[in-house]
Amino acid sequence: THWKHGGIVGVFGYGGGVIGRYSDMPEKYPSIAHFHTMRVNQPASKFYNTDYLRSLCDLWEYRGSGLMNMHGSTGDIIFLGTFTEQLEPIFYELTHILQQDLGGSGSNLRTPSCCIGKARCEWSCIDTQDMCYELTHHYQDELHRPAFPYKFKFKFDGCPNGCVASIARSDMSFIGTWRDNIRIDQEAVKAYIGGEIPPNAGAHKGRDWGKFDIQKEVIDLCPTQCMWMEDGKLKIDDKECTRCMHCINVMPKALRPGLDTGVSLLFGAKAPILEGAQMSVLTIPFMKAEPPYDNIKEIVEKVWDWWMEEGKNRERLGELIQRYGIPKFLEVLEIPPMPQMVKEPRSNPYIFWKEEDVPGGWQRDINDYRSRHKR
Ligand code: HEM
Ligand code: HEM
Ligand code: SF4
Ligand code: SF4
Repeated sequence: THWKHGGIVGVFGYGGGVIGRYSDMPEKYPSIAHFHTMRVNQPASKFYNTDYLRSLCDLWEYRGSGLMNMHGSTGDIIFLGTFTEQLEPIFYELTHILQQDLGGSGSNLRTPSCCIGKARCEWSCIDTQDMCYELTHHYQDELHRPAFPYKFKFKFDGCPNGCVASIARSDMSFIGTWRDNIRIDQEAVKAYIGGEIPPNAGAHKGRDWGKFDIQKEVIDLCPTQCMWMEDGKLKIDDKECTRCMHCINVMPKALRPGLDTGVSLLFGAKAPILEGAQMSVLTIPFMKAEPPYDNIKEIVEKVWDWWMEEGKNRERLGELIQRYGIPKFLEVLEIPPMPQMVKEPRSNPYIFWKEEDVPGGWQRDINDYRSRHKR
């Protein structure tokens, strides 16, 4: 690379949002001697109108390189390349004319993002856009002024298909789900069997996979084997269903998520550095998620209170949970341990007990022991 190491620039009032960058050959390439990136907080699910995009382009063409990244992996609109003296004028124009703020960077809450959700997806169990927008607004201070041991991300998926990959790319992953029964339209099931509706909404039509076989393509692939056909009707034993989405994905016109919807909360996803890559771990199996999301904000703040106090410098939440253990994390969240929180119970016997749970406690007298057991 020919970019110099690091670069610290920004706008007054904020501790993040701009990633400074300088060429290491400024004499040869003076136009990119400075080449700072500005992160601009995208609208939830990235719906735009052309008027807005034109205004952004006009601004960026005038004060920046004209190059953008639509979008950065976290979600932001990326303005790619400008000089330090342009940062404040761009910020002024963004806020005063476009009513548009910067996104996050540094050890803070980064720009939250969400799947397309209820806007255009029949499976969304939560209003991902509303949650994303509400939490972005509610935590503006945490987003703009770094106060954390390290970065922290929220992502919102409307269902377990994970179109914004929250389970892999956010410290706090919100995944929509339901706890009642999958809704079955038996007429539509028949239409699938009869070949009138293509499976997976035609996703595999590029190749001949033969006639749709509900037994082979749905029932036998259900991970919990909780489906069967009876008198030409599809049956689901919903208490054994893990809400994997497979059957719904294959037969979207016949099957739909239940109506008692909410969100599962998972924590700790991160990339490899330092202690290894992690996906988020299921911690709260189900919670209702209705505006203004006070129950969710309460959880967010418990997590932050703990991590901001105990997290080491540049320690992600996932690493702190590993260092302290999930039982400690559950104490912080004030929730009891549940079998759903583990894939399997521990296999080693190195089990910590709390002193108050052990009759007699830890204080013992060797002479008392010796009175019964001679040396
Ligand atoms: C490099 C060799 C060894 C190491 C590093 C080692 C280390 C340890 C450690 C750390 C403990 C736990 C102490 C505690 O409870 O706080 C322990 C306990 C024990 N070790 Fe070893 N040990 C070694 C070899 C052996 C050998 C060769 C034997 C027997 C032939 C042995 C028998 C025991 C026993 C009986 C206990 C007590 C277990 C209990 O009552 O809970 N160790 N050892
Ligand atoms: C008939 C044979 C044996 C009998 C009846 C016996 C009995 C006992 C008893 C009563 C205790 C005390 C338990 C307690 O109060 O916590 C004990 C502890 C222990 N025994 Fe044996 N034992 C036998 C053989 C052995 C042998 C062959 C070994 C080792 C090669 C062994 C190693 C130990 C050890 C390491 C402890 C734990 C000491 C401690 O950490 O406090 N025992 N045994
Ligand atoms: S995550 Fe689920 S709800 Fe969101 S867009 Fe994807 S399939 Fe739809
Ligand atoms: S959602 Fe998954 S686990 Fe549930 S019935 Fe359908 S295929 Fe089986």
